[in-house]
Amino acid sequence: MHKIAVLPGDGIGPEVIREGLKVVQAAAEVTGFQYETVEYDFGGDRYLRTGDVLPNSALDEFRQFDAIYLGSIGHPDVAPGILERGILLKIRFGLDQYINLRPIKLYPGVWTPIKDKGPEEIDFVVVRENTEGMYAGAGGQFKVGTPDEIAVQEMICTRKGVERCVRFAYELARKRAKKKQLTLVDKANVLTYAFDLWARVFAEVGKEYPGIKQEHAYVDACCMWMVKNPEWFDVIVVENMFGDIITDLGAMVQGGMGVAASGNINPEGVSMFEPIHGSAPKYTGLGVINPLAAISAGQLMLEYLGEEKASRLIEQAIMEVLASGKIKDLSTSSGVRTWEVGDLIADAVKRLGSR
Ligand code: IPM
Ligand code: MN
Repeated sequence: MHKIAVLPGDGIGPEVIREGLKVVQAAAEVTGFQYETVEYDFGGDRYLRTGDVLPNSALDEFRQFDAIYLGSIGHPDVAPGILERGILLKIRFGLDQYINLRPIKLYPGVWTPIKDKGPEEIDFVVVRENTEGMYAGAGGQFKVGTPDEIAVQEMICTRKGVERCVRFAYELARKRAKKKQLTLVDKANVLTYAFDLWARVFAEVGKEYPGIKQEHAYVDACCMWMVKNPEWFDVIVVENMFGDIITDLGAMVQGGMGVAASGNINPEGVSMFEPIHGSAPKYTGLGVINPLAAISAGQLMLEYLGEEKASRLIEQAIMEVLASGKIKDLSTSSGVRTWEVGDLIADAVKRLGSR
């Protein structure tokens, strides 16, 4: 029995999570796994009503689950940073979800802005460090609002944090049936302290993986290659902040925020799965958001819960529906309603699963 904590969150989060759960349910029916969900209403509305962001007791409760399924966090009436740091980052850090796994895969039938590149060329995974770097929050402000003001925001990289992330990435490169290549993305030509550590760890851990080809790209060049020659990548390992930036680019390359999913993974603990997109407040309740990213996040969750058959079925269903042309595009003006996409995928899962 898998115990899943569900946090629909703000804006369009609840709408897309509803469709994701519809698909999880369909997969459970055809493959026979058992699960239960407990819903939590953390997010902007609750914060505005009660002042609660995410109490420590909730974090302790989450530790009792097998996975967390999150919609999106962000509210137009709440100042930036409060919910992001108070909920999303608090969970990532508190549960030590040290990997942010972001597959960049273009499915057949999905439009990419990259000319002359297709599903053959666009299929890689970004392993983003998820608990350190500039996100650690080290630094401070001094003499705020005066001409002598000082702001310091530091990048913290620890040997342990870098090593476990790099090792995860090598393992993934080994498991993937692709080029057996791992690319370290950094800015070692400027940020020489932090990325000296990364480079040494990358080389050292790499000795344990003689079958994996080691590559390197500076983060600015990486952005160029992601657009120019995305086929060059297999697995990327990258520091937190740079990983944040390049995965928005990655999401666009794979067809947009409508499909991009991610997992916040603690391989020894509780992981959390979410679409990369935000809460898109202005579309709340309109039923125009494509829930595929949330559905893919659900698929990733089932994979990590060990439900490989269910995960494979969902991916097949997604690919079949996308290839069928029933969804013209993934934008808000596609004419396909949020729940229709959920129904299409859930039906396809049931059909494929009962064969
Ligand atoms: C993401 C988001 C978050 C991040 C924000 C909302 C804190 O952009 O998941 O990529 O920066 O990690
Ligand atoms: Mn981001």
